[in-house]
This record gives sequence, structure tokens and C-alpha cells, in this order.
Amino acid sequence: MIRVTPGIEAHTHDYILTGQDDSKFGFGLTNGQAERAIEEVLANAHVFDCTGLHCHIGSQIFETTGFIMAAHRIMEQLVVWHKKLNFDSKVLNLGGGFGVRYTEEDEPLEPEVYVREIVKEVKKMALANGLAVPEIWIEPGRSLVGEAGTTLYKVGSRKEVPGIRSYLAVDGGMSDNIRPALYEAHYEAVLAEAPLQETEETVAIAGKCCESGDMLIWDLPLPKSNAGDVLAVFCTGAYGYSMANNYNRIPRPPVVFVEDGVSRLVVRRESYEDLVRNDLPLY
Ligand SMILES: Cc1ncc(COP(=O)(O)O)c(C=O)c1O
Repeated sequence: MIRVTPGIEAHTHDYILTGQDDSKFGFGLTNGQAERAIEEVLANAHVFDCTGLHCHIGSQIFETTGFIMAAHRIMEQLVVWHKKLNFDSKVLNLGGGFGVRYTEEDEPLEPEVYVREIVKEVKKMALANGLAVPEIWIEPGRSLVGEAGTTLYKVGSRKEVPGIRSYLAVDGGMSDNIRPALYEAHYEAVLAEAPLQETEETVAIAGKCCESGDMLIWDLPLPKSNAGDVLAVFCTGAYGYSMANNYNRIPRPPVVFVEDGVSRLVVRRESYEDLVRNDLPLY
């Protein structure tokens, strides 16, 4: 498939925005690069078997407008390429990006809503212009698995900065969840033993890596907590473990599946031996 950037600026954080003209991803529709790519593919049909077009306009999107605009823009272009290049896209993959509820402020739409609107626009454009309706694909990520994950941290030390804030350190951080440090992603959390207990203070949850930016949550209302308490951070099922890393040579945590009160270890905790497995002794 040929990935195109349709020139759409979805309403989300800059670092998870991918469909705009100034993007490292894809061939631009607006600047003619996508057309050149199609011409190359058609001229080299013995090498390429082009299934169709692909785009992904960004992530954590809570409205359908961006998807409709992308579908509209690509279909418009397909009308031109049908006439000019005799090119038809068998498949149109409109990417992922459906928003999920990381915090109370997030109001996700049901996936059906995005899909219905996308299909409506593609069909409308195809019928109005005498094109066959392409097979429509989507490739959502976080909306499938994000809310299924919870990360458990142990609370460690506390640092009070008088008049400013209280830091609570936990035994993880950007090595198991890089999203807050990478794009200021927001999360909510509770004390696992007392999820419904009334909150008494607002704390900042600090990761253990040697970066001031390694903060998991800046303003978290919590009941009074003690070292050893377990903090449960919600909605870490996507881009958590899969983007976990060994910053500061911190071993990655285990992954446990839980269903109906039954738990099963599915990824074991990384050990220090694992961290040096690929190191080759000099002597
Ligand atoms: C090309 C592409 N498709 C799909 C996705 C899934 O996005 P999301 O998890 O926001 O649905 C991504 C995420 O980065 C992506 O880069």
C-alpha cells in the first residue's frame, strides 16, 4: 500500500499527529509526491502489486471530522487518478487513532461512530464520482487494548517541597511507560487497596529514572499513602509494555493477565542477567 499524508491536522498532541503536510510519514497528497509514487508504482507493475492507499492521521482523536476530511480528500484524489492514471485503489486503509479514556476528561466515541462516518463519506464520494467503493480498512491500536491494562507500582519515598508540591516516588516510570515523558500524556490512578477512599491531598507521581521529565502524573488526588502502598495507574494496555525500555538499565516489569479472579503470568519480569545477555566479554 502507499501511505499518503492527506494534509489533515487532527485535533491532538503534536507528537501523535501524523497526517499533516509537514510530517515524516507518507507521500504528500498536496505537494504531488503521492502522485509521483503512484506513477512509479504503475510504471513498475512487475515489481509492485499496489493494493491501495493508506493513511493514519494521528492518535487519541475524539471527533469524526478529521477522519471524514481525510476520507474526502483521498477520495477526491482517487477521482483524479482514476481519470488521469487509470489507477484505482482496491483498498483504502484509514488508519487508527480512535481516542480512549485515559482520564475523566477524555470522552471517547464508540468505534462504530467513526466507522459509520468514514464508510458514509467514502461511499458518498465513490457514488457521486462513478468510482467503485474501495474495501475500507481500519487499524486501531489503543481502542482495542488500552483500557484493558493497569500498571501497579509500589510507592516509595516522599519529598515535600513546601508551598509547591509533594512528590511520591514509585518503582517504575518512563522505562515502563514513556508516554508522559514523550508527549505529556495524562493518566489517572488510585491506591489499589483503597480505590474508593476519599482523597486528602494532591501528589506528583515521580518515576525512578534520572530525568526531571520522568513524572508519571503531575497532579493526582489521593488518600494519604505510605511507602509500600500499591498505586494502580489505569489505561496502560497500549504503548506501555510495548514501548517499555531499559533506560538507566532498569529491567522491564512482568505482565499478568487477569480474568474472573484468575491470574496468569504471560511475560516474566526481566532480570539483570537478561540485561547483559548480549554483552560480549572483552577477555
Ligand atoms: C500507522 C499506524 N496505524 C495505526 C496506529 C494505531 O493508532 P491508535 O493506537 O491511536 O489507534 C498507529 C499508531 O501509532 C500507527 O502509527
